[in-house]
Amino acid sequence: MRFNTLLVSGSTLAVVLGLAACNAPATTAAAVNAVSPATNTAPAETTSDATQPAAVQSALPKVLVHKSPSCGCCGAWVDHMRQAGFEVQVDETDELEPIRKRLGVPYAKGSCHTAEIGGYVVEGHVPAADIKRLLAEKPKAKGLVLPGMPMGSPGMESPDGRVAPYTVELVGMNGTTTAYAQHGH
Ligand code: CU
Ligand code: CU
Repeated sequence: MRFNTLLVSGSTLAVVLGLAACNAPATTAAAVNAVSPATNTAPAETTSDATQPAAVQSALPKVLVHKSPSCGCCGAWVDHMRQAGFEVQVDETDELEPIRKRLGVPYAKGSCHTAEIGGYVVEGHVPAADIKRLLAEKPKAKGLVLPGMPMGSPGMESPDGRVAPYTVELVGMNGTTTAYAQHGH
């Protein structure tokens, strides 16, 4: 008898959560409250996730770049991002290490500047096209890293136009990295 009741309210909840995905926020929140107060936070997350793709399509998120005041190639990457349509705010600081730590850049994957974009971290001279793809695909991840400063990456252009092969990596929620985009191959 008791088991039966649980089953019923469980499937009701599933139906309600299904509704949340097809954006009926106000009704959904009220309905879920009635079913079980303990699940309050879940539908809120579902709702904000559901609204994000539309926001990305209409406008790129603002970019906050942390860089050392004396870094020239960082400035060139900022120009690259602005040319790609991003609005960029620059934070000049010599304390990049704590920022990388806070944002989850793996220890060995650092570069010369660290950016915060739409809830993701982007480390180094990552091409804007990869960042736009990240924002469109929205993987559950910390962000993108391009360790070091590969010659030919945006902001690191060489006079003769050469591009050393390089790989942008995706940083998972647990800090492991996987190849995300290859360039110059
Ligand atoms: Cu650099
Ligand atoms: Cu830089």
